Amino acid sequence: MGENSEGEGQHEVRFKYSREVAMRIGIAADHGGFDLKKQVVKDLEAAGHQVEDYGAYEFIADDDYPDFIVPMARAVARGEVKRGIAICGSGVGACVAANKIKGVRAALITDTFSAHQGVEDDDMNVICLGGRVVGHSLVMELIRAFLGANFKNTGRFIRRLDKVRAIKMEEA
Ligand code: RB5
Repeated sequence: MGENSEGEGQHEVRFKYSREVAMRIGIAADHGGFDLKKQVVKDLEAAGHQVEDYGAYEFIADDDYPDFIVPMARAVARGEVKRGIAICGSGVGACVAANKIKGVRAALITDTFSAHQGVEDDDMNVICLGGRVVGHSLVMELIRAFLGANFKNTGRFIRRLDKVRAIKMEEA
């Protein structure tokens, strides 16, 4: 297994233009990300990933993003999937909802630098995307950068995450 080894049960696949390895990925979207999700699932499966789809499974124009994003985020937190992809119209609601789940570090991403640096420095495990903001080609570049990155898992990065974890929920 190479430096990006994901451990037992994960088959290693080296992608031509990315450092990503094949992994189990969760994905969820409301109506604002419904069409984009379908394209992303197809592309990720074609690239060798195992994709768990948490819905929406049909287009319903007034469905609610927490109904799909939260089950997917819980699967990430439990380790049932290694990374998560959350899509709504802007990506904002998906991000707010996903970050409610303990163990999830979600961020709204629109650039490739943040897509990999968010993982490397901050251990981001859910990428949030706006289906009405970014197009399919850019989204796939963002996702490939996200999946190809690994947390640095050393000194100051661990220290910062420990400080984040130590933050208690506060009443207003
Ligand atoms: C739905 O219209 C839209 O509000 C939702 O997809 C998302 O953008 C929320 O942040």
